Amino acid sequence: MKRSYRLGIIGHPVSHSLSPIMHRLAGEMTELDLTYKAFDVRPDMLEQFISRVTGEYSRSFMGSKDTDWPGAESLSGFNVTVPHKVAVIQYLDGLEPDAARIGAVNTVFRRGDKLIGDNTDGYGFLQSLRENAGTDPGGLRVFMYGAGGAARAVAFALSGAGANLVIANRDGAKAQRLVEELTKAGGAAVTADWNAMNLIDSVRAADIIVNTTTVGMKGSGEGALPAMQGIHEGQLVADIVYRPLNTPLLQFAQTQGVRTLDGLWMLIHQGAASFTRWTGEAFPVEAARARLLAELGESNS
Ligand code: ATR
Repeated sequence: MKRSYRLGIIGHPVSHSLSPIMHRLAGEMTELDLTYKAFDVRPDMLEQFISRVTGEYSRSFMGSKDTDWPGAESLSGFNVTVPHKVAVIQYLDGLEPDAARIGAVNTVFRRGDKLIGDNTDGYGFLQSLRENAGTDPGGLRVFMYGAGGAARAVAFALSGAGANLVIANRDGAKAQRLVEELTKAGGAAVTADWNAMNLIDSVRAADIIVNTTTVGMKGSGEGALPAMQGIHEGQLVADIVYRPLNTPLLQFAQTQGVRTLDGLWMLIHQGAASFTRWTGEAFPVEAARARLLAELGESNS
């Protein structure tokens, strides 16, 4: 008999998420009885949603269409996306080490009657570097734009893999806090000031340059990353933004003849880790890539 998994993702908004597409595809290819639903959960409704999952759903919450999430009570696990990645922690029974370090959760699974949070975003980025760019960051110099939630996941993964980090963020205090945490955890990291003059040497000196900010993302408005002029041949330039797939940063790098890594690979590998955590099955990475490229309207290259 086929094993059954009832999975999903919570977010707000959540309708543009690519996760349902790739997890349903993986379910079909692994021949599991698997469903994966998107649940739109407003920030003020998160507690109600979790109580639905745990079966502690109280009558006082009933009677509103905002709390009508059919199937939530039978979820085997779920992904968590914006804006719930930090807020969900207070309702969980435990965290895996990666989620605890990063301070955010993108994957929830059940352990007995407990709900446990994990974070596979950093793993996803690291795996994309290794598998799709053929680069192990151990001992390499990495320049990172950004110090937000996604940056934390990427930074802890890179640091854990032995990279030397330089982190620049518009809000410098945030970069400073992240560097302090990385250093305390035994990593090698320093900050650099968010201004082009200052950054250009740091960018030039890096082996890998990563954008973890939302600059360049579709719908996020105008804005360019400072000191891109420091990019030169021999480096690897990665962006975790995947809408558009070829971001302004990656396009610029390509005009300089520099190798690039797009953010869709990170999305796929974080999904792969979640899928394996829930089901114990390997995730069809290449098929997911082809399917998502089609969804995004890009050719498979
Ligand atoms: P995510 O979870 O996607 O990382 P986030 O935690 O809100 O989202 O972080 C967004 C990142 O993009 C931050 O590093 C943010 O910089 P600040 O901390 O200074 O806000 C960065 N960012 C967003 N818009 C930006 C812009 N126009 N210029 C520079 N950095 C920007």
